[in-house]
Amino acid sequence: MPISQPLLERIIRNAGEIALTHFRDLKHLNVDKKSPRDFVTAADLAVEDFLKAQLREHYPQYGFWGEEGGQSENQINRWIVDPIDGTHSFSRGQYYWSISVALEIAGEIVEGIVYAPALNDYYCATKGQGAWRNGQSIHVSELDDLNDAMIGTGFACLRSYLENNNLARFCRIAQATTGQRRLGSAAVDICLVADGQLDAFWEQELNLYDVAAGALIAKEAGATVTDFHGNSGIFPKQLLITNGKIFNQLLPLM
Ligand code: IPD
Ligand code: CA
Ligand code: CA
Repeated sequence: MPISQPLLERIIRNAGEIALTHFRDLKHLNVDKKSPRDFVTAADLAVEDFLKAQLREHYPQYGFWGEEGGQSENQINRWIVDPIDGTHSFSRGQYYWSISVALEIAGEIVEGIVYAPALNDYYCATKGQGAWRNGQSIHVSELDDLNDAMIGTGFACLRSYLENNNLARFCRIAQATTGQRRLGSAAVDICLVADGQLDAFWEQELNLYDVAAGALIAKEAGATVTDFHGNSGIFPKQLLITNGKIFNQLLPLM
């Protein structure tokens, strides 16, 4: 069983209810653009405000870094929060979006939660204590042939109008695999690798709040977590998560 964190789970599930209230009334949802291809909605802001208030009240010893509101004073031991990962999907009524909450202590991610309310999936991990989905232990897939693999990715690089983007890499890997998915929430994508539903995920130009919680969950589920050159660690600008068995086949294509 996961380490019991009833208070933390209650806070995050309550944040999910706030998100779902907006999700069930999209015609009245206020959607703004942070840049031509980057959205923020009233739901993102409401969820982040709620989480910041609750986590500061119940865990005053930790600082807070939220995607929308930025960083508080204590950034040594801090919560790292993406209030809604997959805002574009959320705003269109699709189910692949999540609330991502990580706890970083002295530079190390020690708690990770990715909650996907519309999917009713609650992924969590505590460092060294395994990975869980809805209280059931999860582990990466056993698939060991890249040709049979189903992989996931995303295109933050196109959001940033980067020349050095993911398109050529995607075409190389798509031709070498059986299935490809771009589901719209990097945090959920990473948890799908942890849960054996995907065999690998990669993306460039993400941010720590997109990936911190998912990367711990994936690592605790037996995944490799590296950059595109195979260096171990959480590199949001170049993140590669695999089930380990196809790592050496995939790395040369990155
Ligand atoms: C986005 C999602 C998407 C990824 C983008 C991210 P946001 O997060 O994770 O899957 O491809 O790069 O920015 O902006 O909806 O929080
Ligand atoms: Ca995000
Ligand atoms: Ca977000």
